[in-house]
Amino acid sequence: MHPKKDLLPNYQAFEKYFLSLATFLNVQNSRVMSNSNNTFKDYIDSNKQRFLDELFDLIRIPSISADSQYKDEVRKAAEFLREKILAAGADKADVYETAGHPIVFGEKIVDNSLPTILVYGHYDVQPADPVELWETPPFEPTIRNDKIYARGSCDDKGQAYMHVKAFETMMQTSTLECNVKFILEGEEEIGSNNLEVFIKEYKDMLAADVVLISDTDILSNETPSITTGLRGLSYMEVEVVGPNRDLHSGMYGGAVANPLNVLCDMIASLKDENNRITIPGFYDKVVEYSDEKRAEFAKAPFSLDKYKKALDIKEVDGEKGFSTIERVGIRPSLDVNGIWGGYMGEGAKTVLPSKANAKISMRLVPNQSSDEITEMFTKHFESIAPDTVKVKVSPHHGGEAAVTPIDSTAFKAASEAFHEGWGKYPIPTMEGGSIPIVSLFDKILGLNTILFGFGLKEDAIHSPNESYGLFNFYKGIETIVLFYKHFARLSK
Ligand code: BES
Ligand code: MN
Ligand code: MN
Repeated sequence: MHPKKDLLPNYQAFEKYFLSLATFLNVQNSRVMSNSNNTFKDYIDSNKQRFLDELFDLIRIPSISADSQYKDEVRKAAEFLREKILAAGADKADVYETAGHPIVFGEKIVDNSLPTILVYGHYDVQPADPVELWETPPFEPTIRNDKIYARGSCDDKGQAYMHVKAFETMMQTSTLECNVKFILEGEEEIGSNNLEVFIKEYKDMLAADVVLISDTDILSNETPSITTGLRGLSYMEVEVVGPNRDLHSGMYGGAVANPLNVLCDMIASLKDENNRITIPGFYDKVVEYSDEKRAEFAKAPFSLDKYKKALDIKEVDGEKGFSTIERVGIRPSLDVNGIWGGYMGEGAKTVLPSKANAKISMRLVPNQSSDEITEMFTKHFESIAPDTVKVKVSPHHGGEAAVTPIDSTAFKAASEAFHEGWGKYPIPTMEGGSIPIVSLFDKILGLNTILFGFGLKEDAIHSPNESYGLFNFYKGIETIVLFYKHFARLSK
């Protein structure tokens, strides 16, 4: 055996001691007493500023997973979180290598007879572009109107970090009544492919009673909600190739097929006059909801007027026969995410481009299979190409939709946590975004997930000027602590 390996456990023990000491001193510095008379709320309150400072340090690391230039930054964010989990009182926390960006795993086993919560989050973020539309730099967190403005403030650094601070709070106030395992990944925004490999390999290490994730929204700060459904995804890239070189659009225009024109026609034909997707078989497995169920959805408070105003649009759009909430929550969709080709520089250049490209994504609902839809799309897109062009279809990432049960102990605990913390029971909702790993936690580990998110629609995740409310950050920490409390109680 390599001698250094023997030293590793000692080194880790030392490091753990050192980091706990660091936290201890930090806590003393901010003159906080964590004696038993203090409740967890006092602890959060007295450490408010430090919690925020730490989150700011995390946000300042531009951990953009999609861009290989930021590879080292992604790793820095992983290291940062590993240290913080350890400092908060974990038995261990490690950074695991994968074929892509690393995964952080840490745990605190209080007692094997207690229930175990597996906390999942992601520390990678979306690219910040278009950077010129940000009011303040994307990786320099700034507070305006009681919100933290920065890339990742809500999705998902702010939300994931609430769990680390909730854990610290329970450790410091001796109120942790569940075992905790943290799994934080750096590839959520690019499809979580290596996380799938990881959870297959480390099934035993990840054994738990429930997965807890804060990476979704609530309806509003007045109307708390719990997400019970997420859509799946198939993400495609297509290329349409025409003549073997760019041509003079006067000499050839009207006589040779223009790949950009053809691509636009092909994309336009993917939906009919009712905004239904025309790919044969696309709806075959889509679950149709009963009128009763739909009436239930319709009860969720929603103002179409406010929705339109917030987006500055005159009208909404979507599949005929469904409400806006349904279009996002229970119906699939198809969108062009980007399209390019030809001349895109300043001024005008008269050119008939040789090729055209587009990125097209489909959001899927329960029972639709991402692989099947990817295949259907590929076949269909190839079949509708006219003889004037060649087409190439390549899939990017995908993932399955997820529905989480609302009759589980964990869901009850989540409801009770909101009730105690917010004075209201949360409304179950279905959301349109995707977290690919949720269905795999169920399939591979046999675990249900609670989507315990605290974001708001106006937080503008993935957009310029992403934000996260200070209220949501602190209230989220409190509500997470309450979840542990109720989950422990209801699991007895
Ligand atoms: N946190 C979001 C997903 C989300 C946001 C769900 C709000 C529900 C409400 C997540 O980080 C995300 O952006 N996921 C990607 C998935 C993908 C890249 C595979 C998405 O939905 O586009
Ligand atoms: Mn996210
Ligand atoms: Mn995201």
